[in-house]
Amino acid sequence: MSLQQFVAALDDLADDAKRAFDAAADPDTLEEARIKFLGAKKGLLKSIQKQIGSVGKENMPTAGQRLNEVKSLIEQTFQATQDRLTGDAVDGADPTFDPTLPGIAPEIGHVHPITQTIDHLMEIMGRMGFEAAEGPEVEDPHHNFVALNIPEDHPARDPLDNFYLSVGDGQASRFVEGTRLLRSQTSTVQIRVMEQRQPPIRIISLGRVYRPDAPDATHFPMFHQMEGLMVDRNVTMANLKTVLRIFATNYLGDDVEIRFRPSFFPFTEPSVEVDFLWDGNWVEFGGAGMVDPNVFKAVGYDPEQVSGFAFGLGVERLCMRRHGITDIRDLYSGDLRFLRQF
Ligand code: PHE
Repeated sequence: MSLQQFVAALDDLADDAKRAFDAAADPDTLEEARIKFLGAKKGLLKSIQKQIGSVGKENMPTAGQRLNEVKSLIEQTFQATQDRLTGDAVDGADPTFDPTLPGIAPEIGHVHPITQTIDHLMEIMGRMGFEAAEGPEVEDPHHNFVALNIPEDHPARDPLDNFYLSVGDGQASRFVEGTRLLRSQTSTVQIRVMEQRQPPIRIISLGRVYRPDAPDATHFPMFHQMEGLMVDRNVTMANLKTVLRIFATNYLGDDVEIRFRPSFFPFTEPSVEVDFLWDGNWVEFGGAGMVDPNVFKAVGYDPEQVSGFAFGLGVERLCMRRHGITDIRDLYSGDLRFLRQF
């Protein structure tokens, strides 16, 4: 036998053995196959080994090395098959360990329903080309009011409706120089974005706002808003309505009913309130309108050149409407029996 023939015979044997082991459906059949290929006296490997002398003296080392490799390959294949058949697939596993017992699931928690809602809303608006923008939760009166066309004496600035912060060692007050407050609306982000960039602008901002409301089923002193702003040439109210309708059907389904009701906000003109039909009642979800020229002037845009729309919707209300939640306080109670449902 030449070296080549010897090696070929070994390779064929390895293939045959693997096929035979794979085909074995139970330990007895497998044992028969083992004896056939690896048997110490009459095994097929042994009979090839006996012919090793015929490869010639100079080829013996190579032939011997190849023989050993194939032998351990066949032994490994056999071992793996045996482990598979006896369910003992992990080498050196504890024999008292029963892999069929159910495992212990680690407690890893999950994303809060409002965070899930925010991700979902960003995804829907992202598909319409709105990019995420952010602003601080601690704001100055310029961004929360002045640039939004809300004058000094406007009731929206009342301390009863806002969380003013004390600055320095002074009292919390709307009149203290350098006063700050927790933002009462995400419309602040409209100003921050327009101060930084030039049109065209298409942004969405999802974040917390704060108002000193007594908690009840529909109010909480901290909640989230989704603010949208689009500024370009020739943006119209029709664009606003289309975007909000597409958003509403994407988030709440094709059969959602949405209504625009004339309203007033200092920073939009005209303004509308956005209502959704919810269990037979029209419920307000937020405000919207065409950006007021005074807001454009406050950020240095020319109202003759650009127009835009803005809207602000309550994120909790959207989440509650989608999931049938009836009390906003459930979202912030920390009660895991509630939270685990999402
Ligand atoms: N900021 C308003 C609110 O909190 C909502 C709004 C946003 C209205 C944008 C018009 C335009 O009530």
